[in-house]
Amino acid sequence: MKKQIDWLPILIQCRDNLKRQIAPLLKTLKQPKPSLGIGAGGDPIKLVDLTAENAITETLKEYGLSFTLISEESGIKNYGENPEENYVTVDPIDGTTNLMRGIPFYATSIAVSTKPELTTVHTAMVTDLFHGTTYTAKKGEGAQRDNKKIIPSEKVTLEDAVVGIDLNTYRASEVAPRLTSLIEKTKHIRHLGANALELCYVADGTTDAFIDIRGKLRTTDTAAAWLIINEAGAKITTPKGEPLNAKLDPKEKLTFIAAANQKIHKTILSLIKEA
Ligand code: IPD
Ligand code: CA
Repeated sequence: MKKQIDWLPILIQCRDNLKRQIAPLLKTLKQPKPSLGIGAGGDPIKLVDLTAENAITETLKEYGLSFTLISEESGIKNYGENPEENYVTVDPIDGTTNLMRGIPFYATSIAVSTKPELTTVHTAMVTDLFHGTTYTAKKGEGAQRDNKKIIPSEKVTLEDAVVGIDLNTYRASEVAPRLTSLIEKTKHIRHLGANALELCYVADGTTDAFIDIRGKLRTTDTAAAWLIINEAGAKITTPKGEPLNAKLDPKEKLTFIAAANQKIHKTILSLIKEA
């Protein structure tokens, strides 16, 4: 029989090991580093990304776990005797550009699922590596920030909402016009540069919505925050309002509308033009 694993303490251990291992690198960010090639998600790999990923797999191996790693950096890799028992989807550093440039907003995202499929994620952690805040969730048990239950905001109008929109795309001439009506009705638009963490900001009421319809965001960045958002009681759907699902794979991309509550979610959907 498959043994029950208490994943949350293990993910916390991954976080602590990762923080220890990347600490020396954070002091030498400006020094030139050797080129490490392109990661499975399609971006150039930085030493800090690889060090963070190694810290995660090293910790999981120390626990003697069997798992399939789905990572933005080294792609899909099997560990242990029964790797199909657990899928661990990671973005070792979400917001690498922020980290490299000294912008204090970057995170680690880890999601555990029973299949390589978003809707089977049952345990999740997103940790803000600069501020030391950790978001966690277990399916059916709610979401927490630093072990305290979180709930999304109750704001229902765009006039005073804070809405995150990722428009970081060379295809802006195609994507931006779909968002013009929404932008015109929203007073406070943001993009902070680490989407896993920005989704957690919707989960805990720091912001009221986060929108990414570029067709560019990887499932590795989204998997953990998807559970955190759902467990907190916020909403995350496709731009058409359908439930979100995707294959967990570093090459798979997602578009979504995340919002604090049904009402503001509906308003946002009604303002976004179809592709
Ligand atoms: C990036 C961040 C950023 C988003 C990019 C992502 P990465 O993640 O989430 O906010 O605009 O599309 O790739 O590359 O730093 O893991
Ligand atoms: Ca990354």
